Amino acid sequence: MEEKILFGYSGLFDTPDKIIEAAEKVADSKYVNYDVHTPYPVHGMDTAMKLKPSRLPYVALVVGISSMLAMLGFMYWITTTDYPVIVGGKPFFSFPAWVPVLFEVTVLSASIATVLAMIIVYFKFPNISHPLHDTDFMRAVTADKYGISIEIKDDENEEEVIAFLQSIGAYNVSAIYWSNEEATFKNTVLQPKFLSLLLIVIITVSGATYFTLNKLMFMVPFNWMREQDKNIPQELSTFFEDEFAMRNPVAGTISRGNMPYKYIGQPDIAGAELLNPLALSKENLELGKIKYDIYCSPCHGYFGEGDSRLKGQFPNPPTLHSAKAREWSDGRIFSVLTEGQNVMASYAHQLDRNERWAVILYIRALQRSLNAKESDL
Ligand code: HEC
Repeated sequence: MEEKILFGYSGLFDTPDKIIEAAEKVADSKYVNYDVHTPYPVHGMDTAMKLKPSRLPYVALVVGISSMLAMLGFMYWITTTDYPVIVGGKPFFSFPAWVPVLFEVTVLSASIATVLAMIIVYFKFPNISHPLHDTDFMRAVTADKYGISIEIKDDENEEEVIAFLQSIGAYNVSAIYWSNEEATFKNTVLQPKFLSLLLIVIITVSGATYFTLNKLMFMVPFNWMREQDKNIPQELSTFFEDEFAMRNPVAGTISRGNMPYKYIGQPDIAGAELLNPLALSKENLELGKIKYDIYCSPCHGYFGEGDSRLKGQFPNPPTLHSAKAREWSDGRIFSVLTEGQNVMASYAHQLDRNERWAVILYIRALQRSLNAKESDL
């Protein structure tokens, strides 16, 4: 059997009071490398062991402040030097807007640094073993016992430690040994072998990713909506002789649903030939009233009497109840609405064909309201 290396001695106690008392005594003694083990946190233990406050908060402070300053400088560089963009006329160095970012960066970096420092610096990760693990002592103190372990350094007397433990009331005082593995453990993380393996993995993974995304899966960018053979309005054309990209429709073209008005400048022929295609129905009359009130009443008045609401800003039209207007055929009035008459403009753009005919039905109704024939009753 190979020789084992001694780690230290451990002793057990039965009650929380006893362990606190014992911890105080060890703290007052010359032994510094000791630890107290309890199945649950025992109140007052920090004071009994005279523990100094943890140094971990300093890590958070230093890392938090320095990464905040780094972020401040980074944003300053971006917004004033690298890519200055005017946002709402504010100055490039716009500190208030950065406060949330600085806050987040500070908190994030401080917390990550704290965890890493705790695990790596204080807990000596990746070393995850300890001589106390897997001992009867550890089994006892993680169940219902309380214990103290004292490390033996080269210059300490083993007998003395045993006697001391017994003197403060410990029972089951026993020796703890390093396992061979633990005794010879060396941190392998920083070894050249591991580092070069890490480097190879990094280069392979990033290289493979780059190759896959940029070569293997490369697709021509989707730009054929933007870059197609076409001329945009007002553009110079190299195709047509007159160099205009915008073309006039071919002579005689009729756009869909848009029958050209063929009586331009011929109101009398329109009056003789055009017939109102709409039936004298409630719907058509209502449509006519709506459109008349909107488009005609400002000048002609709600009842067609020529009582304009425009207060002289536009010549008052004649009444629509004149004998002339009453005797005009629907087609003749249609030509006024379509082409306009003297100062009255065309309403062909505001009212489609149907609506113009409906307005005429409504005008007829207005006319009858003042000059009803017997047949109208
Ligand atoms: C901006 C004011 C104005 C509006 C709006 C207007 N008109 Fe006129 N309208 C006139 C004037 C002014 C005349 C007289 C034109 C002239 O000197 O021949 C007139 C003439 C007419 C005539 C011929 C009357 C006649 O005895 O010669 C008819 C019919 C008519 N309008 C119908 C309408 C209808 C229907 C509408 C609604 C779609 C309409 N107008 C909208 C100002 C207007």
